[in-house]
Amino acid sequence: MNILGINAYHGNASAAIICDGQLVAAVEEERFNRVKYAAGFPAAAIRYCLKEAGITLAEVDHVAVPRNPYARLGTKLFYALRMPSFARERMRVLTKFTGIPEALAAAFDSDPAKLSASFHRVEHHQAHLASSYFVSPFDHAALLSADGLGDFASSMWGTGRGNQLEIDGSIAFPHSLGLYYSAVTQYLGFLKFGDEYKVMGLAAYGEPAHLETFRDIVRFNLNGGEFGFRLALKYFTHHRTGPEMSWPEADQTPVLGKLFSDAMPEKLGGPARRPEESLEQRHHDLAASLQARLEEVYLGMLKKLAAKTCAKAVCLAGGVAFNCVANGKIFEQTPFEQVYVHPAAGDAGLAVGAAYYVWHQRLGKPRSFEMKHAYWGPGYSTSEIRSAIAASAVSQGGFTITELPEEELMRRTASIIAEGKILGWYQGRAEWGPRALGNRSIVADPRRPEMKEILNERIKHREIFRPFAPSILAEKTGEWFAQSHPSPFMTLAYAVNPDKRDKIPAPTHVDGTGRLQTVTREANPRYHALIREFERQTGVPVVLNTSFNDNEPIVCRPEEALDCFLRTKMDALVLGDFLVTRT
Ligand SMILES: [Fe+2]
Repeated sequence: MNILGINAYHGNASAAIICDGQLVAAVEEERFNRVKYAAGFPAAAIRYCLKEAGITLAEVDHVAVPRNPYARLGTKLFYALRMPSFARERMRVLTKFTGIPEALAAAFDSDPAKLSASFHRVEHHQAHLASSYFVSPFDHAALLSADGLGDFASSMWGTGRGNQLEIDGSIAFPHSLGLYYSAVTQYLGFLKFGDEYKVMGLAAYGEPAHLETFRDIVRFNLNGGEFGFRLALKYFTHHRTGPEMSWPEADQTPVLGKLFSDAMPEKLGGPARRPEESLEQRHHDLAASLQARLEEVYLGMLKKLAAKTCAKAVCLAGGVAFNCVANGKIFEQTPFEQVYVHPAAGDAGLAVGAAYYVWHQRLGKPRSFEMKHAYWGPGYSTSEIRSAIAASAVSQGGFTITELPEEELMRRTASIIAEGKILGWYQGRAEWGPRALGNRSIVADPRRPEMKEILNERIKHREIFRPFAPSILAEKTGEWFAQSHPSPFMTLAYAVNPDKRDKIPAPTHVDGTGRLQTVTREANPRYHALIREFERQTGVPVVLNTSFNDNEPIVCRPEEALDCFLRTKMDALVLGDFLVTRT
């Protein structure tokens, strides 16, 4: 049985296919159309998923769409009556959603009448919860989804037991932890969709000097009977103007309107920062306070959830679950002993979640799949890589290109990294979710403190305050970090052990933490072998890992990897078995 999940007309448009309960492929549309966070209809992603599964559109039995326009209809009508522009926007989205069968047929030049699949609507947050729990290793877990907004809710929680989710509660519009974080992110001068993670990185430079102010902006009573939180709405505008994001048809980049009201600058002690203005200590402290309040509320909700469910494990999804700093504190500050965060915890992951929701919750099928790695995107054969190299400027002189056997490739590559050179590392199938996890990565020496500046200046062209991540041999995690719980998808940040900080200064953030990826041989044998060889040569079982891109979606095809390599002047590139170096 084939189930196609589609996240459409929302940021991070994506598709996924599961066949007889096994995930076969999952990918974001941005990897194909090269527009970061692309919204719209993910036609290329769907085409890829069907091709990977070896099926045609006619062989899809069920289509799962993670949106239910009828969820919380009363609340929606209430706000639609108060905000005519919001009502028009909702109608536009609803029209698009009801047109998904037609859009699907059109993408395949097919007649909608010939589609035999059953269409299922799955509520946004139930799809988030499904995306995490149904692919986790757990048979019983507490579940929490938290994001900006989806189907008029911003959070949902419950329990996963066997092949069923039990929903216990939710927080409806306009109260939202995600929109709280987004509003202050905008106030701090970061205006692009998805900039929240920059502010999370900035927070480490400040002190939570304004925590009391933020406690007033987000109200939460840890000891009270009420589970959730409330926003002090006078500091926000979304409840008056409507929260929907928009995206121009031309480039499909999602845009969020202004979220904070005039009362916010007054409350935070000064005007909003313009993007071109420098960052002062005040901004660092505001970011630290924003983050500290998020952690109080998020971890407080998790504590209540642990008490309610008596579960030892928790599954997390929704954009807030990308807050690796907060996630890293779960073990110390809540009773949970195990955590699973879906690698595409944001809205891309809804495609997988909706498909598994249909498979388990609606069709009652037993659990048989665990997502142990994130390599569910497109891969390219050796002959395709060879052709891409032949067609690229690297074959026109100035470069040495060698095809090497595994062992020699690892030895040469690890020594290139150890010499302080910057390596493009392109292998196998692309990662699902926003993190490069050793198949579309730029890899560098973590021992060199100057590596961060070099990467930022030469390759990544991004803000200097943003940290780089360490990839570590999973079996060595406890020796180097304060926690040893797996973090295979780079969704948890742990303190680097004090005696190790000067050994890996480049991926250690200013607060002494690292957003680590724990690498097992089982999940990624070749990346594991590379780090092991780097350890053999240097004594350090860690490499610095950043995504293979330069202010664009992560490279997908080998041609894009070659272009990025040439454009950014990396020192060396490994594409499959081929090593390309500058001569
Ligand atoms: Fe969401």
